[in-house]
Amino acid sequence: MNPEELKRLVAQAACDEVLKLPPGQCLGIGTGSTANWFIDLLAPHQGHFAGVVSSSMASTQRLIQRGFYVLDTNQVTDLPVYVDGADEINPAGHMIKGGGGALTREKIISAMAKRFICICDASKQVAVLGQFPLPLEIIPLAQPYVMRSITTLGGEGHLRMVGTTGQPFITDNGGWILDVRGLSITQPVQLESKINQIPGVVSVGLFAQRKADLLLVSNATGVEAVAHTQ
Ligand code: A5P
Repeated sequence: MNPEELKRLVAQAACDEVLKLPPGQCLGIGTGSTANWFIDLLAPHQGHFAGVVSSSMASTQRLIQRGFYVLDTNQVTDLPVYVDGADEINPAGHMIKGGGGALTREKIISAMAKRFICICDASKQVAVLGQFPLPLEIIPLAQPYVMRSITTLGGEGHLRMVGTTGQPFITDNGGWILDVRGLSITQPVQLESKINQIPGVVSVGLFAQRKADLLLVSNATGVEAVAHTQ
């Protein structure tokens, strides 16, 4: 199976899972190529949900184009499930996210949700997080300070740029992204707290304190479901 088929397969499994919810609830939907498959496959069933909240402008646009009713997070008090991809996930269900730059809104919506369903293919499963550069969303004027602070933690921050334009990548919130290389993340919960404490960091793409409750992971033989307790 090629990578797109694996994404489609796991997205279909997530659709089957969320359609077990009673009708009339709100659903949280993430960002990225796997989440895009989920949006497309769920579109025929959008009437099952009172509405959706989305973790990025890109997902919001796609959802609206496909007929979903997109709510602002401020309008939602009860969010039973959030579905999103990941860049890496370890055996405990801790994740690195933010490869698409949407980590802050992903954090907010996953924190609001009762259950986080992570959807990915088996290539995202790792023993120890950190091969994938850890994204941080930062306030632009804090860049030199955050870079230095990250160095003391053993990492190396790289400002994310837009292709070869020489311009920094700007998040939906007007922030910049530092991609941190060189970390071997053996204590994700603690590292998440430490990085959150650095002034100028808006959020860190470590999802350890709020990890996945359910991992749906696809491989050549099908989709495996792995439950994690918080
Ligand atoms: C977006 O900011 C990310 O957190 C994505 O969820 C993550 O990068 C996974 O994306 P893909 O499904 O495209 O691999």
